[in-house]
Amino acid sequence: MSMNLITLLYLLASVCFIQALKGLSHPTTSRRGNLFGMLGMTLAVFTTVGLILKLGAQFSVQGATAGLGYVVVGLLVGGTAGSVMAKRVEMTKMPELVAFMHSMIGLAAVFIAIAAVVEPQSLGIVARMADPIPAGNRLELFLGAAIGAITFSGSVIAFGKLSGKYKFRLFQGAPVQFTGQHVLNLLVGLAIVGLGLLFTFTGHIGAFALLVALAFVIGVLIIIPIGGADMPVVVSMLNSYSGWAAAGIGFSLNNSMLIVAGSLVGSSGAILSYIMCKAMNRSFFNVILGGFGAHADAGPAAGSQEQRPVKSGSSDDAAFLLTNADTVIIVPGYGLAVARAQHALMELAEKLTHRGVTVKYAIHPVAGRMPGHMNVLLAEAEVPYEQVFEMEDINAEFGQTDVVLVLGANDVVNPAAKNDPKSPIAGMPILEAFKARTVIVNKRSMASGYAGLDNELFYLDKTMMVFGDAKKVIEDMVKAVD
Ligand code: TAP
Repeated sequence: MSMNLITLLYLLASVCFIQALKGLSHPTTSRRGNLFGMLGMTLAVFTTVGLILKLGAQFSVQGATAGLGYVVVGLLVGGTAGSVMAKRVEMTKMPELVAFMHSMIGLAAVFIAIAAVVEPQSLGIVARMADPIPAGNRLELFLGAAIGAITFSGSVIAFGKLSGKYKFRLFQGAPVQFTGQHVLNLLVGLAIVGLGLLFTFTGHIGAFALLVALAFVIGVLIIIPIGGADMPVVVSMLNSYSGWAAAGIGFSLNNSMLIVAGSLVGSSGAILSYIMCKAMNRSFFNVILGGFGAHADAGPAAGSQEQRPVKSGSSDDAAFLLTNADTVIIVPGYGLAVARAQHALMELAEKLTHRGVTVKYAIHPVAGRMPGHMNVLLAEAEVPYEQVFEMEDINAEFGQTDVVLVLGANDVVNPAAKNDPKSPIAGMPILEAFKARTVIVNKRSMASGYAGLDNELFYLDKTMMVFGDAKKVIEDMVKAVD
C-alpha cells in the first residue's frame, strides 16, 4: 500500500465519520449516519493494518509482521465482545455501556503512550532506540496519557454510579464529598501538570510514570462528588475526553486518522455536553472542573415525601378523558422505556388520532437515561416523526392543550425546577405539562424520579394519577378506547 493510497483512504474514512455525525443529528437520518460510521471505521482499521505492514517493511522493524497477529487477535476478540454487548444491552442500560467503552478508549490511550515512551523506535517516533523522544512528542504523550488515564478511571466510576448494582461507596449515586476535596483536586492537578512539564523538558521516565498514576487518581476524585442526576453530562464529557486523548496520541504517532477521529469525538462530545448542560441548567466549566451536583439544601429525598392525598383514577377514566379531548400531548419518560410500552403507546395514539384527536409527543432533552433515548424509543415503534416535538418547539402549546399524558416521566415535568429556587433542579428547563387543562400521570407509585425529588405536578387539582406498569396501563387504555 503506497503512502498516497493510505492518505486517501484515511481521508475517505474521515469524510464517512463527518457524514455519520451529520446523519446522527436527526432521527430520520440516524440509520444512514450509523452506516457511514461503520464504513468509516472499517476503512480506518484496514488502512491502519496496511500502514503497519508498510512501516514494518520500511523501517525493518523486527516482529512487525508477528505483531500483526496480535492486532488480528485484538480485532477478533474486541469486535466479538463489542457486538455481543451491543446486541444484548437493554436500551435503559446504554449509558453504562457507553461509559464502559469510554473507559476502554482511555486505557488504550494510556497503553499506547506507555509503549511509545518505552519503545519510541517501534512506533516510528525516533529513528534509533538510543535517540531521545523530541520534546514536542513528549508533550503530546504527556497530554494523551494523562487525559486517557482520567477518562479511564472517571468512566469506571461513572459506570458504577449508572449501573447502581454495586454496594461499593464510590459507585453509589449519591455524591461523595469530604473536607478539602477541591484543594486536594487542585494539588493533584498541579502535580500532574508539573510532572508533565518535567517529563516534556527532561524526558524523566519516573515523572511520566507518576503523572499517569496521579491522573488515574484524579479521574476518580473529579467524578465521585458528582450526583447521579448529573451523570449524563459526565458521560458525554468523558466521551469528549476520550476523543482528545486519542487525538493527542495521534499527534505522537503521526497518524492523521487518529487525530481527525479523536478531534471529532472530542469536539462533538464537548458540544453535546454543552447542550446537556443547558438542558439541565448546569454551567459547562463547573462540569469540566468536576465537583458539582451535590447541594447542601437539596429537597426531599426519595422515600421522604410527605404523604399527601392525590387524585387517582383507572385506565378507563383516562381513556374517557383522552377520547373527549381535541388535543393531547404525550410526555414519555424513563418509565415508558423500562416498561417497553412504546408499541402499545403507538397503538393508543393511532386510535386517538383515528377518532379525530390531535396527538403530539413532547421530548425533553434529558428524558430517559441517555441523549436521544425517547427519540430512539418512539422511532422503534415507528411513531411518525412529524408528531414528535422537541421541548422548545412544544412548550408554548401546553397552555392550550386539553390533556397531557405523562408516561413514566417525573423530573422532566417537575414544576419545582421553575418555582422553587432551592430545588436541586432549579433552573432546569422542563416540559410545562402543569399548564395543560388536565394532566394524566402514569407511574407505579408515588416514588421519586432520578433526581430523588417530590413532584408538585402529581398533587395538582387537575392531575389524575393512574398507577401501574406503563405497558399494562396503556394496553388497558387501548381496550377502553375501543
Ligand atoms: P425519572 O425522573 O427518572 O422518572 C421516571 C419515573 O418512571 C419514576 O418516577 C418511576 O416512578 C416511573 N417508572 C419506572 N418504571 C415504570 C414503569 N414500569 N411503568 C410506569 N412508570 C414507571 O425520568 P424522566 O422524567 O425521564 O427524567 C430523566 C431523569 O434522568 C432526569 O433527572 C435526568 O437528569 C436523568 N438522567 C438523564 C439521562 C439522559 S441523557 N437522558 C441520563 C442519566 C440520567 P415509579 O417508580 O413510581 O413507577
